[in-house]
Amino acid sequence: MASADGERFDLIIRNGTLIDGTGAPRHQADLAITGGRIGAMGDLAKSSADRTLDASGRVVAPGFIDVHTHDDRVLLSDPAMTPKVSQGVTTVVVGNCGISLAPFTPHGRPIPPLDLLGDAGWYRFPTFGAFLDAVDRAPAAVNALFLVGHQTLRVGAMDSLERAATEGEIGFMRGQIDEAMRAGAVGFSTGLFYPPARHAPTDEVVALAEAVTPYGGLYATHLRDEGALLLDSVDEALTIGERAGLPVVLSHHKASGKANHGKVSLSLAKIDAAAKRQRVSLDVYPYNASSTVLLPGRLDDAPRILITWSEAIPEAAGRELGELAAEHGLTREDMAGRLLPAGAIYFAMAEADVQTVLRYPGAMIGSDGLPGGAKPHPRLWGTFPRVLGHYSRDLGLMPLEEAVHRMTGLSAKTFGLADRGVLRPGAAADIVIFDPATVLDLATFEAPETPARGIELVLVAGKPVWRNGGTTGERPGRALRRTRPI
Ligand code: ZN
Ligand code: CU
Repeated sequence: MASADGERFDLIIRNGTLIDGTGAPRHQADLAITGGRIGAMGDLAKSSADRTLDASGRVVAPGFIDVHTHDDRVLLSDPAMTPKVSQGVTTVVVGNCGISLAPFTPHGRPIPPLDLLGDAGWYRFPTFGAFLDAVDRAPAAVNALFLVGHQTLRVGAMDSLERAATEGEIGFMRGQIDEAMRAGAVGFSTGLFYPPARHAPTDEVVALAEAVTPYGGLYATHLRDEGALLLDSVDEALTIGERAGLPVVLSHHKASGKANHGKVSLSLAKIDAAAKRQRVSLDVYPYNASSTVLLPGRLDDAPRILITWSEAIPEAAGRELGELAAEHGLTREDMAGRLLPAGAIYFAMAEADVQTVLRYPGAMIGSDGLPGGAKPHPRLWGTFPRVLGHYSRDLGLMPLEEAVHRMTGLSAKTFGLADRGVLRPGAAADIVIFDPATVLDLATFEAPETPARGIELVLVAGKPVWRNGGTTGERPGRALRRTRPI
């Protein structure tokens, strides 16, 4: 890390505490940026720049990579990406849980959970390439990397979702996956838990995932069951990865429902054993409540359910389902039926399990934030500062260097992002500067849309996107394409 004596840069961040994203111990150094990339690191006292910034007492780290998002639509509709840049996020992976905005065939309807991304007006991209082109034409503040979703494909390709796809339908969907991969998608995602995909057998998923294999992409999955059948579902995901020859990412790892609390120790042991023969990783968000569409048949696991949005009864947002049911003299299930279409937060996890998964060295951090809705789950605004402040600093679950690694270097490596996620000369200047003493999530279930504390400056390609507690209007983000096998 030699400093270039006398060299002139666009920006020098002086005296910061560098945490480089590899997991290595922090060290004091200057960091220079030029042309949107890191130009030099080290003692740059002799170098000059158009602008300099003193980062004494502050951590300088690679911008965070949110590996699990549903930001497909907001990239276009809300390109400032305030919930993300306010946390230090500079890259998002979209298209998770089998839900992607593209490709959508004209006769398909965005039934739940596809409606989490937007209404029918937003499902307007007949090819994956057309969606990526739209993001190119109107870039967001952050970079995005794209998965193509099984549920979106099924809804577009099949006249009935209550069965396995026919050979003809599989052929059609494979063609769509092929187009998405050629356009630059990083892989294929499923959400086998959800009604549009529930009837897809393992063989169907393998046949589709195999279309990704020639391109060297990956397979990301919201498991078929995160409750009683958690371990079987992990086995299914590992089998799909092994048969298709793809790296597997297990999404938002958890055990749902009281009877299943503690099972994450078994699932993590299973994942460890599998990692000896295949590539497998996982992501996690730092909360003991989940959130998705309201599914009236699936309430049993959660004693407490908060409504995040309801089209039928908008004023129900923020209310507890049991209370609403009592007021209307209905069962919870009937009340849920009245609220549809709707979204909800489910309190069905054990805090001890959340901490067990967070401690797992291979666990990447992903928010699973759901943009939209009157009272979204606070993970949308709080995930990354919560890991840094609450879990790393205050509870001591992991050193700060490791927490940063699991939101930067590890994530970049898993998703094949060659020049992001680490601080080194030549890497993209996606950078966050935060105060390690004060960084903390402030978003709560009552007031979810509250920016975090302590995230002071966020740069994407060297351009500020978050500064002095606000967005800047800059849109330096890119639609990132997979350019080589992962
Ligand atoms: Zn999911
Ligand atoms: Cu998700």
